[in-house]
Amino acid sequence: MSAAPVTESPLQYLDEALIQLKRDGLYRNLRRLTGEQLPRSRFDGREVINLSSNNYLGLTTHPKLREAAIQAVRALGVGSGSVRTIAGTMELHMELERRIAAFKKTEASVVFQSGFAANAGTVSSLLGKGDLIVSDELNHASIIDGARLSRAEIRVFPHRDVAALERLLEETRDVKRRLVITDGVFSMDGDIAPLPPIAALARAHGAIMMIDDAHSSGVLGRAGRGTVDHFDLHGQVDVQVGTLSKAIGVLGGYVCGSKSLIEYLYHRARPFLFSTSHPPAVAAACLKAFDVLEEEPERIERLWANTRRFKEGLKRLKFDTGSSETPITPILVGEADLVMRFSDRLFERGVFAQGIGFPTVAKGRARLRTIVTATHSDEDLDRALSILGDVGRELGVLS
Ligand SMILES: Cc1ncc(COP(=O)(O)O)c(C=O)c1O
Repeated sequence: MSAAPVTESPLQYLDEALIQLKRDGLYRNLRRLTGEQLPRSRFDGREVINLSSNNYLGLTTHPKLREAAIQAVRALGVGSGSVRTIAGTMELHMELERRIAAFKKTEASVVFQSGFAANAGTVSSLLGKGDLIVSDELNHASIIDGARLSRAEIRVFPHRDVAALERLLEETRDVKRRLVITDGVFSMDGDIAPLPPIAALARAHGAIMMIDDAHSSGVLGRAGRGTVDHFDLHGQVDVQVGTLSKAIGVLGGYVCGSKSLIEYLYHRARPFLFSTSHPPAVAAACLKAFDVLEEEPERIERLWANTRRFKEGLKRLKFDTGSSETPITPILVGEADLVMRFSDRLFERGVFAQGIGFPTVAKGRARLRTIVTATHSDEDLDRALSILGDVGRELGVLS
């Protein structure tokens, strides 16, 4: 007997989930950017001071990167045509990997399609069943997904809590292979991992030490070499991940470390094996970005001067900015619906500061996430601060 036709779509539950998101104040329309990613940009048809991009150094529109990309398209076309392990490794890809390894002062590096792919592909291929991953509770989603994919056991330590990490490592002495992993700069809080004691503990316990420097590369350390350089810990971190999508201004992720680590990832990291490599324009623009980092140190200096100016202004206004130490400054508000109203009202007044709620951050820890860049002018920052103060008072976030 055939079953009676089902009239309800099997995807009906998605509509219900969306309705719930709306009820919780977490439903978002994607803001549309027309024109370039700049400190003042046009989103949804409105010119706003842009405090929401990761374009720390303004490289998304740098003339030298633009020109490098155009030349690469002319000379080499628009696509690589294959995954790296078959026919998609161009000389440009290899040159970029050599360049990144030299920049980070490691033996070798491998480039992935994104920072997400770099983290997920690396964690999931280095660890397996029976192994252990020890991870800061605020580590990025790509680390968490990689850890789940690996099928290793996952133990989470409270954010930046070195004593808790030590206890965990003591308790798990019997596990043969362990990975300690932390973000360098935390993407929603802007604080820096206490890497010296973390790396020392990993070493003392014979664990692999891995860091995700997505928000530190191009920002911290000499010429933006990242957290390892910032703390002068060269040689003490086994696996360093970074992105090409944030301060570098283009797209991609990379892993730096020993030659064996990189050769292993060439053979085992699934995004590397099963997803097409970057178009030549991406690789060429990234390569040029590393030149610019060394030729134009004033960009990083300006980024930090702007960061100090903006943070001081937020402090004067008495916003709660948590424990941020970097250009990522959260403005903690509490409830998601209030933060979304705050963000929308700011937008109407000409400031784009994205509201972030659960699940990206914990419930009750909703925030505006602001990022200043090297290309904001003093006037941009002062105007943004003045509007933040006005709207903060209107909504009762500030008394
Ligand atoms: C800490 C952290 N790691 C990794 C990533 C992923 O980088 P990408 O945007 O290059 O995929 C991000 C970006 O969202 C991030 O914030």
